[in-house]
Amino acid sequence: MSASSPRRVLLDADTGLDDALALAYLTAVPELELLAVTGVDGCVDGIRAAHNSAMVLQALGHPEVPIGAATGQYDGIATPPPVQAFGPSGMGEVVVGPPDEARSFPDSVELMARILDRDRLPTTLLCTGPLTNAAKLLRDHPGAARWIDRIFVMGGSIAAGGNVTAAAEFNILRDPEAADAVFLADIPTTLYGLDVFVQPVISTDELGTRPDDSPRARLSHLLLRELAALFPGRGAFLGDGGAAVVLMNPELASKTSYPARVELEGTHTRGATVVDRRDSQGGDWPRIDFVTAVDPDGIVSEFLRQINRKEAP
Ligand code: RIB
Ligand code: CA
Repeated sequence: MSASSPRRVLLDADTGLDDALALAYLTAVPELELLAVTGVDGCVDGIRAAHNSAMVLQALGHPEVPIGAATGQYDGIATPPPVQAFGPSGMGEVVVGPPDEARSFPDSVELMARILDRDRLPTTLLCTGPLTNAAKLLRDHPGAARWIDRIFVMGGSIAAGGNVTAAAEFNILRDPEAADAVFLADIPTTLYGLDVFVQPVISTDELGTRPDDSPRARLSHLLLRELAALFPGRGAFLGDGGAAVVLMNPELASKTSYPARVELEGTHTRGATVVDRRDSQGGDWPRIDFVTAVDPDGIVSEFLRQINRKEAP
């Protein structure tokens, strides 16, 4: 691969409002090739996630991107019902549809494996939902998975605790066995967790301005305004969109590698990311790269720059 080749990215998502922001960004960046978007059970089920991705990609003018769908947990352990943080549709009140209910999708894991086997080129897996599909890909398709150069995950936390329980972040809690399997796989893994997740915020002032007259800018504006309405505060947090920006712009974040595992038991702590911050300890725990700090303003301006960039006709 030449130095100028675009970065190859597979996005695995439980497509809701902030995953849709990630999609808007990923389809705008010229230095990136979005190979597929695969649905996973999360804040909506994996079929609905696929339909949401299809509608968002259509609205963004990228209906050609392959889409997969899958439901079910990594090892069949029952988990609590999804937390519908963005309402039953995952998109709040934003209407990008209607979904093409007659459309069927290939299985998410099979689609990822097929692309990796076909191209045999280094590819980054960006996960903005639970890690069910990622773990299944590593377990069921080890040959294909060896082309993954990094798994970049929105999930977990170092010191920020959880958002669904006191200890656990949603994407990890939804399928802790899957997350721990990903940690244990011998593939470089980055966690963009709750320590930084809500820091990149588009201000209320910015949201009050008229968006550029492009489908991408208009859709992003709608998504952001909905996020601001659902989570009132200083404006709209970029959420998974911020993870996508940091993936492509590592200089906007600081990372530290720590030994880490996922808590699989625990009366109050199932789904917690247990991070060993003692120097040179951790025994045989895998080392995970955690995003420890971000440049929130830099992330927001890069996001807006790409969202508002005029695409070549
Ligand atoms: O905990 C935040 C995560 O849960 C985000 O990825 C959001 O989209 C939901 O999946
Ligand atoms: Ca998500």
